[in-house]
Amino acid sequence: MEKRFLGNNLEVSAIGLGCMGFSHAYGAALSDKETITNIRKAYDIGYTLFDTAEVYGTKEDPHCNEVLVGKALKEIRNNVQIVTKFGIHFDENSTQVNKSLITDSSRKTILNSVEASLRRLNTDHIDLYLQHRIDVNTEPEAVADVMAELIKEGKILNWGISEANEEYLRRANAICKVAAVENRYSMMYRDYESLFSTLEELNIGFIAFSPMANGFLTGKYNKDSKFDSKLDYRSNMPQFKPKAYEQNQQLLKLLADMSIEHNATPSQISMAWMLCKKPWIVPIPGSRKISHMTENVAAIDIKLSQDEIIQLDKMLASMNMSEVFGGSKIVK
Ligand SMILES: NC(=O)c1ccc[n+]([C@@H]2O[C@H](COP(=O)([O-])OP(=O)(O)OC[C@H]3O[C@@H](n4cnc5c(N)ncnc54)[C@H](OP(=O)(O)O)[C@@H]3O)[C@@H](O)[C@H]2O)c1
Repeated sequence: MEKRFLGNNLEVSAIGLGCMGFSHAYGAALSDKETITNIRKAYDIGYTLFDTAEVYGTKEDPHCNEVLVGKALKEIRNNVQIVTKFGIHFDENSTQVNKSLITDSSRKTILNSVEASLRRLNTDHIDLYLQHRIDVNTEPEAVADVMAELIKEGKILNWGISEANEEYLRRANAICKVAAVENRYSMMYRDYESLFSTLEELNIGFIAFSPMANGFLTGKYNKDSKFDSKLDYRSNMPQFKPKAYEQNQQLLKLLADMSIEHNATPSQISMAWMLCKKPWIVPIPGSRKISHMTENVAAIDIKLSQDEIIQLDKMLASMNMSEVFGGSKIVK
């Protein structure tokens, strides 16, 4: 697959694999065996960037995603880039399927987290270590200081911030160069486009998570699609409520029309839109299925002109859309 750079040095596949859904947030986990097989197969298809986090797991094994990613990539470790994250845990008192998040990026917590992640991933380095959410109790400079220390020790090669804002990013980057932000970005959620000029100025890459609005933009769901209310975040997402399909008709039709025009699928169009926008945007679609992973990598072959993108952006800005999931609440 075509490669892209995140920051100065981190070369990755232009599309990465989001590994969260194998064990977390998208219904009952896939078996360990299938998870390992499918992640390994993703490498054969062309993915070299793999995204996990210390908090992705099941009730029984809350950190299992890192373990499975580590096992799947063990033999090809030097050919792949592993992203993992620190700095949040779930509020176990929360009754929501998507439990609220408690942030903690204190030095002590980060140092414990990095050792635990390295052990679970069964590796001696993390290619990109992300602060999962900003912690209002820890200054960006303090987090960046710890990152500089970990880079010096070789435990992490690069660092970044998930759901970063401009001020935080500038302050953190001034202490220790940030390679990438990882923020929510899709045709239904474009808030972080306001960050693009800063990223360009500072040479920071953008990893787009939930690039298909949690699967909605694939066009493969409808008002009868059902999700497990205890294990599947989509049961609580506004874009999957029955009335949302009605509200999003224009968007789904636009994707369907463009798919015909480009001999592609809606999933591919929704990612081609961001891939063609900037050479430093790297979407990480989440998929458990090899057929979907294969479909998604082909997005790189669809070339949309800048004029087409400008037209698309205008249409997206003016059309009716339902609300879209914006992330789990953070406990203040
Ligand atoms: N930094 C953060 O805070 C953060 C937050 C959320 C997610 N992430 C990362 O971003 C990754 C991607 O985000 P996401 O998984 O939330 O959303 P997403 O990639 O927008 O959507 C994932 C959903 O789309 C479905 N899908 C994918 N490709 C498909 C295709 N070609 N046809 C039909 N369905 C398809 C998947 O089902 P199948 O499994 O059946 O393919 C899955 O249910 C995650 O895996 C995670 O690693 C990071």
